[in-house]
Amino acid sequence: MGRSCHPKCRLGRLMSWLQIVLGGLVIIFSICSLFKFYSAGFFLHNEDICRQFYGVKEAYEGFDLKALSDRVGEVLNRLESLQERLESAVQQMEKNKEDLHTTNITKLEYKKYLEEEVIRPLYSAHISLRLIRLPKPEGIRNSTMKEEPLINTFVIEEIRKYITPKQSRVGKITIYGTEGIFNTIGHACVSYKKELEEYMSYDIGSYCNDDWNLAQKLMLNGCDPLPRRRCLTRASMVYQKPYPINESLWRLPDDRNVRWSNYLCRNFKCLMGNNSRRGYSKCVGCFEMEKEKLKWVTNSSLPIDFLINDVLAIKPGEIRIGLDFGIGTGTFAARMREHNVTIVSTALNLGAPFNEMIALRGLIPLHLTLNQRLPFFDNIMDMIHTTGFLDGWIDLQLLDFILFDWDRILRPGGLLWIDRFFCKRKDLDAFMYMFLQLRYKKHKWAISPKSKDEVYLSALLEKPPRAI
Ligand SMILES: *[C@@H]1O[C@H](CO)[C@@H](O)[C@H](O)[C@H]1NC(C)=O
Ligand SMILES: *[C@@H]1O[C@H](CO)[C@@H](O)[C@H](O)[C@H]1NC(C)=O
Ligand SMILES: *[C@@H]1O[C@H](CO)[C@@H](O)[C@H](O)[C@H]1NC(C)=O
Ligand SMILES: *[C@@H]1O[C@H](CO)[C@@H](O)[C@H](O)[C@H]1NC(C)=O
Ligand SMILES: *[C@@H]1O[C@H](CO)[C@@H](O)[C@H](O)[C@H]1NC(C)=O
Ligand SMILES: *[C@@H]1O[C@H](CO)[C@@H](O)[C@H](O)[C@H]1NC(C)=O
Repeated sequence: MGRSCHPKCRLGRLMSWLQIVLGGLVIIFSICSLFKFYSAGFFLHNEDICRQFYGVKEAYEGFDLKALSDRVGEVLNRLESLQERLESAVQQMEKNKEDLHTTNITKLEYKKYLEEEVIRPLYSAHISLRLIRLPKPEGIRNSTMKEEPLINTFVIEEIRKYITPKQSRVGKITIYGTEGIFNTIGHACVSYKKELEEYMSYDIGSYCNDDWNLAQKLMLNGCDPLPRRRCLTRASMVYQKPYPINESLWRLPDDRNVRWSNYLCRNFKCLMGNNSRRGYSKCVGCFEMEKEKLKWVTNSSLPIDFLINDVLAIKPGEIRIGLDFGIGTGTFAARMREHNVTIVSTALNLGAPFNEMIALRGLIPLHLTLNQRLPFFDNIMDMIHTTGFLDGWIDLQLLDFILFDWDRILRPGGLLWIDRFFCKRKDLDAFMYMFLQLRYKKHKWAISPKSKDEVYLSALLEKPPRAI
């Protein structure tokens, strides 16, 4: 046999070692389970390990034991299937004992066998074991424990790293007076685990996938906020410098400044209102500058269309900053800019590059869903304008939360401009109650029929002082 036996002998020896190691792991897990039930003090050597898993009594209060036991079960299954495969390989060899003497496996086959059948499963079991995040016995009652069940939900290391609270490097308390920095993700990320893990699968420092639409889908489904990523966002290959502000406000941007791969259209012309295959249905015609130029400045036949001049005349010189909550290409912000008013426009890329369009016009898009509290402080905005977004489909309780949030950021004396809200005629009373419950001062109020059973409502309301 001599040299030709050499790889086989090593293989055999290696496998017996492996079995010993795996057996040891299984024993440790079993002892830990036993320890949990009997809490006896005589497993001296394993006690420390077990405390890591189950801790002192308060250690696992609030700790998601189910997530942990799921993960441990996963590892055990992997180890078990590895062991089974190795054993069956050995049995196979045993059967072909005769051949064993006559044939010899090449080093290459031997290497391949080790790589595919042994090292890979062992590695993934090892990684799964490492990913188990154990409660630290000290400080358990403090906030650090609350995130653990969430962290244990995710397997992808990058997500886990992101949501683990980060302590300050210089002291126990951060400059914000907190114990750490808590990177947050929306709680519904848990229901979109697969998509989120896809989103967070990248090599650190490399280029991200061109997946803003996956990100937006996650956001819209409640995984909002999304985790940050450590990869480089792709940009248009031929990005041109934007037009100067005196031109950009009313000009379609350069097509080359947008990555079009995730849209039906491939240029701004294609997004025009008369194209039936433009890929979006909200804000039809918003990319036609000639039509946009008429909005809020020309008298319309309908009483529900207020003019910017009339609205600003109510509070001359007082309106300087505001929020445009809707879907559009920033035309309201552009007009207000001409009045020296700074408007932040919310934007979602629903089938068309609304965010890019607003930014390329030289205005500020805020990529925001309805899921979140507005990222503004209390009593600061001079104006909130809303159009085209909140319509009769909206749940009344959701609308209530949104209205109170707007009220929070609007300053006393600030204006709430509800522009062309529409709903079913029979729902009008409910919505009117919603808008009037805040007891704002009514500057303008108009209702017009939209169709046979739908109506438009526009209102200009002023937040009263709150000296309480
Ligand atoms: C086994 O190895 C010997 C040399 O070590 C070689 O001559 C022989 O061809 C090999 N047999 C097979 C079946 O590969
Ligand atoms: C928990 O944190 C608070 C301050 O946030 C601290 O006063 C308290 O001692 C901590 N408790 C434990 C058990 O560490
Ligand atoms: C815009 O402003 C620049 C200088 O700031 C000027 O050269 C240019 O002619 C202006 N364009 C228009 C259309 O007014
Ligand atoms: C569609 O719009 C473009 C540009 O606005 C215009 O040239 C064209 O005539 C329109 N087509 C139809 C069918 O209205
Ligand atoms: C709009 O109509 C009013 C009167 O209804 C008039 O005073 C005003 O000049 C008109 N504005 C424009 C821009 O046509
Ligand atoms: C906006 O500000 C500029 C410079 O301060 C001023 O010249 C212009 O008249 C203002 N426009 C309006 C509409 O107030």
